[in-house]
Amino acid sequence: MEDKDLKTAAKTTDKNSGDPRIIAFVCNWCTYNGADLAGTSRMKYSDNVRVIKLPCTGRIDPLFIIEAFKKGAKGVLVSGCHPGDCHYTSGNYHSRRKYATFRDLLGYLGVDLNRVEFSWISASEGNKWVAVINEFTDKIKSLSGNSTDIFTKK
Ligand code: FES
Repeated sequence: MEDKDLKTAAKTTDKNSGDPRIIAFVCNWCTYNGADLAGTSRMKYSDNVRVIKLPCTGRIDPLFIIEAFKKGAKGVLVSGCHPGDCHYTSGNYHSRRKYATFRDLLGYLGVDLNRVEFSWISASEGNKWVAVINEFTDKIKSLSGNSTDIFTKK
């Protein structure tokens, strides 16, 4: 993943809708295909999400999340295969464990933990992708009303 890709993807708001920008780090095998299914099925969902596809959620470095916020994202979603379905056997378990530890660090850095969401979405769950994106977008919009600061500690 190139730094300029994340910078472009994380620009604060969507030009067309004015909605807060959300970055979704997704695995190539399940969630990306679930999002693709939603698109090819012409399901409607918020257009403020920028998807960054990686081979597996196990590949998602927690620092990617911090970088996304630093570059202007207002929310970050991490999503991959359901437990037991990872195409690399256990990448999603590693990811879940990494986040359990990393979550405390994010809080220590002052990140509002409501702005980070994890989910499991399979390739056949286009409906779930739509629901997760719409619910997360609504949540981020409600937070933006109170404060636009991601890093609450200065
Ligand atoms: S391949 Fe999807 S989470 Fe590992």
